[in-house]
Amino acid sequence: MQTACRRLGHQYIKQSPASLYSLKSVYPLSDQYYGVENPRMASTLATKGVGHLVRKGTGGRSSVSGIVATVFGATGFLGRYLVQQLAKMGSQVLVPFRGSEDSQRHLKLMGDLGQIVPMKYNPRDENSIKAVMAKANVVINLIGREYETRNYSFEEVNHHMAEQLAVIAKEHGGIMRYIQVSCLGASPSSASKMLRAKAAAEEAILRELPEATVMRPAVMVGTEDRILNPWAQFAKKYSFLPLIGDGSTKIQPVYVVDVASAIIAALKDDGTSMGNIYELGGPDIYTMHELAELMYDTIREWPHYVRIPFPIAKALATPRELLLKKVPFPMPVPTIFNLDQIEAFSTDTVVSTNALTFEDLGIAPRKLKGYPVEYLIQYRKGGPMYGSTVSEKLTPKSWN
Ligand SMILES: NC(=O)c1ccc[n+]([C@@H]2O[C@H](COP(=O)([O-])OP(=O)(O)OC[C@H]3O[C@@H](n4cnc5c(N)ncnc54)[C@H](OP(=O)(O)O)[C@@H]3O)[C@@H](O)[C@H]2O)c1
Repeated sequence: MQTACRRLGHQYIKQSPASLYSLKSVYPLSDQYYGVENPRMASTLATKGVGHLVRKGTGGRSSVSGIVATVFGATGFLGRYLVQQLAKMGSQVLVPFRGSEDSQRHLKLMGDLGQIVPMKYNPRDENSIKAVMAKANVVINLIGREYETRNYSFEEVNHHMAEQLAVIAKEHGGIMRYIQVSCLGASPSSASKMLRAKAAAEEAILRELPEATVMRPAVMVGTEDRILNPWAQFAKKYSFLPLIGDGSTKIQPVYVVDVASAIIAALKDDGTSMGNIYELGGPDIYTMHELAELMYDTIREWPHYVRIPFPIAKALATPRELLLKKVPFPMPVPTIFNLDQIEAFSTDTVVSTNALTFEDLGIAPRKLKGYPVEYLIQYRKGGPMYGSTVSEKLTPKSWN
């Protein structure tokens, strides 16, 4: 019935006075009910985001949220948690992917039949981007990479692609919410090329779409993370962990699921998050050394560190960057010795005092100690069941 009325609403504008009369006889409402002048018919997109979309059901996976979201970068770490949460509220999710079918296969299981729609695209082909955005009313951009490859520079992935998506979304005309995932510490004056590119992307997006929402997560932790996993793998393999600098750099790691929840909270609000930048850090600030201790504690190994001063760490990481475009084969993906990340971690990166945060989105981020780092038990000597798990040592109350 709702759909029929909406369709009729469109017909009123096009109908001749005679047919309008007959429609009025079907729906005996006063004259002011007809036409877009009526506040009820007028678009509220600019001010309300997706808050007014037609919803059906109780809000679960099999209901309809009215959101049709194209999630660029859905095949990555944050993507799987975000797609899961979008699907769980009954949204349709279009998943552009560029690699093999396997890169998106795990996402299909997160929704009902037809709810998650993988679409092959080419990020360098404007028409294919338009095709994956065509049916969407929400665009979320998670594309990013913390190292350069032979094919893609930091600028292209983290800035130009993001800008192109915003331009296309603007041309599209029907995108109600645009969310860009940037990085905590993004700044034009950062020592890290990636963070400078992220800052340029934020500026370009807010210039194209001033009502876009920007999320700046801190380092994300979770089952597939790229901080604690490489540390644990290195520690297991070489029986020590390189601690770059003196380990006193402060960061504010955040649980990946909380970042996905923040994006959903922004989507669900009445438009208050439109045009805002949110800094998403966890509840605790850790030094690199403290975070490494948490990792060692969870994998139940005795901590062994080798302190590597910044200049030496940079010297170790530089050859890859120098050879990247000079050798005729791909260079290995950098993990711990990633030159740009070493630059980024040379200064403290925590949520700024006046920033909008999780709190403004109504979310209390979880402490890392406990469930969020429990995936690390897979690295325990003797198997994951060795000893009690961290969460068993803590009462659930202390997680909050
Ligand atoms: N992970 C963190 O700790 C962290 C912290 C702060 C901010 N962020 C930001 O949050 C966003 C999501 O992070 P994440 O950890 O989920 O990233 P991720 O796992 O590396 O996934 C990145 C996504 O971007 C896509 N992508 C990368 N390079 C691309 C290219 N040249 N063309 C097209 N697509 C490309 C990847 O597609 P393929 O699968 O095809 O490669 C993947 O879907 C990123 O923007 C990242 O910069 C991450």
